[in-house]
Amino acid sequence: MSASPPRPYSISARGPLRGIVRVPGDKSISHRALMFSALAVGESRIEGLLEGEDVLATAAAMRAMGATVERDADGTWRVHGVGVGGLLQPAQALEMGNSGTSTRLLMGLVASHGITATFTGDASLSSRPMGRVIEPLSQMGADITASPGGRLPLMVRGMNPAVPIAYTLPVASAQVKSAVLLAGLNTPGITRVIEPVPTRDHSERMLRGFGAELTVEDSPEGKVISITGEAELQPQHIVVPGDPSSAGFWMVAASIVPGSEVTIENVCMNPTRTGLVTALRMMGADIAQLNPREVGGEPVADLRVRHAPLRAIEVPPDLAPSMIDEYPILFVAAALAEGRTVARGAHELRVKESDRIATMKAALEAAGVALEEFEDGLAITGSAGRPLAGNAQVASKLDHRIAMSMVVAGLASAAAISIDDVAPVSTSYPDFFQTLDALAE
Ligand code: S3P
Repeated sequence: MSASPPRPYSISARGPLRGIVRVPGDKSISHRALMFSALAVGESRIEGLLEGEDVLATAAAMRAMGATVERDADGTWRVHGVGVGGLLQPAQALEMGNSGTSTRLLMGLVASHGITATFTGDASLSSRPMGRVIEPLSQMGADITASPGGRLPLMVRGMNPAVPIAYTLPVASAQVKSAVLLAGLNTPGITRVIEPVPTRDHSERMLRGFGAELTVEDSPEGKVISITGEAELQPQHIVVPGDPSSAGFWMVAASIVPGSEVTIENVCMNPTRTGLVTALRMMGADIAQLNPREVGGEPVADLRVRHAPLRAIEVPPDLAPSMIDEYPILFVAAALAEGRTVARGAHELRVKESDRIATMKAALEAAGVALEEFEDGLAITGSAGRPLAGNAQVASKLDHRIAMSMVVAGLASAAAISIDDVAPVSTSYPDFFQTLDALAE
């Protein structure tokens, strides 16, 4: 995948935002739908797949390892799987672009197959730590050679048969949990992951849906997730619900732009993903949850969000795992709230697509916001609803969520916010700007 040329973008106060939107399919669920379908025996169908660059990198990798992955004209994806244990040696390096989820989960898959794969990525991905997956996968027998600091490019030589392990997660990471569980799929015996702090559980839900023998038990050490290999996965028909992380941009935009009312349809409301809704409601946001239902084994609802004055909060650190990708947009909400919001206990933000603490501090400061930086978060003094000064040049640092968050900040800024590059938005939300134009005519 070639890197897109930089795409600068400028925005200032616009609105109100009004209308009904549908956000694209959930990114985490989309990756897993492709991977598990590619490991089933027979043909799976996936509706509502996120067609962003990150997920397309996963699709290309599964093709390179032997699965047939096709898109019908109506947007349904059809995947013919190779069966667990059936992944083929890829002929070339697997190009992961900007996608940490593709990289870490696929490293898990390769680790227990008798194949070797090299993983490469863009500058952002090549600066992110992979030691967190290298460690457990090496314990299972994989031989992994990484660039200095445990980074990409790296090569995984899988071990078949791999050795089942019981692994306690040292960081709250669904990617690490999933990498070990996916390695466990083709490992004879029971592979266990002990999760002291709950993280998104899409892998567990979907693997069960595909027929894997997977159990989840509570213990004094945390959740114990056990998978029995070698698993046989049955093809499925998957409907991917809307991405709550993408919905977050409209939740905050509608909350901070006076006169707004936006209904976001079909949002995944899995409790491991709803921390932003909880935090915004604590701040006084007007978010109504309509028509709750179940889609593809996940709770889903429509969210109606109206403008409301926001007040500062201390963001409970235990919300961090359920809103880890939403901190950048929460910081924008805090910049418009009344009082000083303190968000700490979010150290993981330092190792996302960019260092999201430093990047958001620089960007919001340039737009006239007073912030204090901590190792594990930010304190933000809000404008009590007054527009931000704006008149700022900000850098998105190859980070889609920084770009989209600063666009939303621009909607509430007196003078323009100019973002150096919004091209990374295509990794997770290709239609973001069309939706913005439709909402804020
Ligand atoms: C993801 C897990 C999270 C999240 C990422 C997607 C997943 O990462 O930030 O966008 O799909 O498992 P960590 O596991 O590193 O917290």
